[in-house]
Amino acid sequence: PSETSNLFYLSGVFCESLSVTEGDSVTLHIGVTEIHEDDDILWKFEAGKSQLAKIKKKKQIFSTYDGPDERFRDRLKLDNQTGSLTITNITTQHTGDYQLEISGAKKSSKTFSVSVYARLPVPVISSNSSQCSSSSSSSSYCSLVCSVVNVGHVPLSWYKGNSLLSSISVSDLSISLSLPLEVEYQDNNSYSCVLNNPISNQTQHLDITQHCHTCSGTAELIYVFIY
Ligand SMILES: *[C@@H]1O[C@H](CO)[C@@H](O)[C@H](O)[C@H]1NC(C)=O
Ligand SMILES: *[C@@H]1O[C@H](CO)[C@@H](O)[C@H](O)[C@H]1NC(C)=O
Ligand SMILES: *[C@@H]1O[C@H](CO)[C@@H](O)[C@H](O)[C@H]1NC(C)=O
Ligand SMILES: *[C@@H]1O[C@H](CO)[C@@H](O)[C@H](O)[C@H]1NC(C)=O
Repeated sequence: PSETSNLFYLSGVFCESLSVTEGDSVTLHIGVTEIHEDDDILWKFEAGKSQLAKIKKKKQIFSTYDGPDERFRDRLKLDNQTGSLTITNITTQHTGDYQLEISGAKKSSKTFSVSVYARLPVPVISSNSSQCSSSSSSSSYCSLVCSVVNVGHVPLSWYKGNSLLSSISVSDLSISLSLPLEVEYQDNNSYSCVLNNPISNQTQHLDITQHCHTCSGTAELIYVFIY
C-alpha cells in the first residue's frame, strides 16, 4: 500500500525507483505477462556483485539465492511465469540497486533502485501537566505536547485543519521529539499531530475534551468524594 514508483532513463539505462516501508513487500516487475521460451533471466544485487535469482526457461531452471550475508534468505519469491522478483518483509539492509539482465532472442537490462523507509510510530498527544499544576487561575488555554520516540530524520508537525502550524525534526536516530501546542478550550478547529516521511504518515487527531483535562476537573472529583 505505501509503495511509490517512478520510471526514468539514466544515461541510456532503463531505471525504476521504488520506495517501500520496512516490513512490506516489493515486487520488481519485468513488464511481461509471460517470459519468452528462449529467454534467460538474471536478477542481481549491488552492482551485479551477487546473484539473487536465475531463470533458464528452456531448461526449466528457476532458482533463488540467499545473497550477501544470507540477507535475502527466505525473503525472495520468483514468479516462474512473469519472471518478477518479490522481496518480502523488507528491511533497510535491502536498500540498493537491483539489476535485471535478460539474454536470449533480445538482450536487455534494467536497474531497480529500492529505498526502504522505517515504519513510523503513532505520535502521542498529552497535556503538559507541569503547566496545569502551576496554573491555579482558570486559564482558558490548554497546554499540550505531541511526542514520539526512536525516530530520526522525520518531521513532527502540528496542523490546524490543513495548514501547518509548527514543525520540528532531528537528524539523529533514537531521539524523542516533542512539540508543544496551546489551544483554547472553546476552540472548535480540528488539530492534528503528524509524523511523516516521503511515503507515509502517522496522524493523531486532537480531541480537546479528551486531551485537555482541566485542573479544576480533578478538584471537583475530590469535592464529590468529601461530600
Ligand atoms: C521480518 O523480518 C524481521 C527482521 O529480520 C524479523 O524479526 C521478523 O520475524 C520477520 N517477520 C516475518 C513475518 O517474517
Ligand atoms: C510545558 O510547558 C512549559 C511552560 O510553557 C515548557 O517550558 C515545557 O517545555 C513544556 N513541556 C514540554 C514537554 O513541552
Ligand atoms: C465554533 O463554533 C461556534 C458555535 O458553537 C461557531 O459560531 C463558530 O463559527 C465556530 N468556529 C469555527 C472556526 O468553526
Ligand atoms: C497523510 O497520508 C494520507 C494518506 O495516507 C494523506 O491523505 C494525508 O494528506 C497525509 N497527511 C499529511 C499531513 O501529509
